[in-house]
Amino acid sequence: MKLLVIGSGGREHALAKKLLEDPKVEQVFCAKGNPGMKRDGVVTVDIAEDDHENLIRFAKENAIEWTFVGPEIPLLNGIVDDFEAAGLKIFGPNKAAAMIEGSKEFAKELMVKMAIPTADYASFSDFEAAKAYVLEKGAPIVIKADGLAAGKGVVVAQTVEEAVQALREMLEENKFGESGARVVIEEFLDGEEFSLLAFVDGDRLYPMVIAQDHKRVFDGDLGPNTGGMGAYTPVPQIPQSMVDESVEKVLYPTIQGMIAQGTPYRGILYAGLIATKEGPKVIEFNARFGDPETQVVLSRLDSSLADIITALIHHEEPTIVWNNQASVGVVVAAKGYPEAYEKNMVLPEITDETVQVFYAGVAEKNQQLVGNGGRIFLVEASAPTIVEAQQKVYEALKVAQNASLHFRQDIGSKALS
Ligand code: AMP
Ligand code: GLY
Repeated sequence: MKLLVIGSGGREHALAKKLLEDPKVEQVFCAKGNPGMKRDGVVTVDIAEDDHENLIRFAKENAIEWTFVGPEIPLLNGIVDDFEAAGLKIFGPNKAAAMIEGSKEFAKELMVKMAIPTADYASFSDFEAAKAYVLEKGAPIVIKADGLAAGKGVVVAQTVEEAVQALREMLEENKFGESGARVVIEEFLDGEEFSLLAFVDGDRLYPMVIAQDHKRVFDGDLGPNTGGMGAYTPVPQIPQSMVDESVEKVLYPTIQGMIAQGTPYRGILYAGLIATKEGPKVIEFNARFGDPETQVVLSRLDSSLADIITALIHHEEPTIVWNNQASVGVVVAAKGYPEAYEKNMVLPEITDETVQVFYAGVAEKNQQLVGNGGRIFLVEASAPTIVEAQQKVYEALKVAQNASLHFRQDIGSKALS
């Protein structure tokens, strides 16, 4: 069968590569994809993610069995609705259900309705009212742009001054454009963070193994938030009882709440959770696979991803088997990211064949891959333990130590302390 993946990052590279592992899969197309993926046999298609009409035409002309959507923006633009209206099979939430990621307020209202544990919050569009709320609550406190901001519209303010500054930037200075025109102000949750993803088909869900992302740009979780600087799995400091509780108290009530309000969920559901003293609490939902979590989580999937998605599309029971390996993935970014950064630098070749390289912000110049985005590529290593996987990944990354690139040196270390 032939499959189509929508998106162009490291997550989509990992998804496409995993789909290609199944011998039944003849070809995986990726729109738009990136030139780095071609090294793994993925065929890139030069059609923009928001050009639904041409994507539909492509899927029909190439007898695509089904399409998988990587990023949130096409989901929120209704790509699933459009493909289904054209009689095509596609896996992901429709526009109405993707709002669980598209609006923090939508997600919060659902959580309140379903008594899903989450941080206390209030939302505002008026700067003075928001400021008064912050002064009343005190710090630490968390300020979030209501709409999509690529993981960067969140400020964990340690002081009231920092919180007020963030409100001013979002509500008065439009730093995040429309997505910052409303803000959600949230109670600060203290505890370890973890990502729990699940395959969902209406009222049925199949949790994946958990992972931990590293959102801050520098070692020791310092510096600004990014789209994610690295991830690892398993997360041994999060006990299985915490994961089970999250499935029972967060994931199931979420999909039941979505059905109850007439927006049933199908696709990948991602819960960003904090393991607090009172149990798991939600900090965000995403309507898709996480990046960079996908690159490590899929390394532990022993079953055919193509079979799983095919089963879910046909409302059948999938077979999902995870292995006990550890996986560590380190993002190599352009120096300066998430602020202004350099492009067009020639990328080092990772020659170690025991690791996987997933490309993201890359372009091709004179048959060489060059940097073309903030997060450029991710190197993933699997091994029986996190320590071994970490050693393997950093050994392979020695060639990437240079003045125009940056990567964290401590991905996975929290599991070892
Ligand atoms: P988000 O985009 O909502 O995932 O937020 C980005 C990052 O900010 C998260 O990964 C957390 O590290 C942090 N964060 C978000 N909300 C909270 C909260 N209520 N308490 C503590 N940290 C938070
Ligand atoms: N790694 C976080 C995200 O994909 O939103």
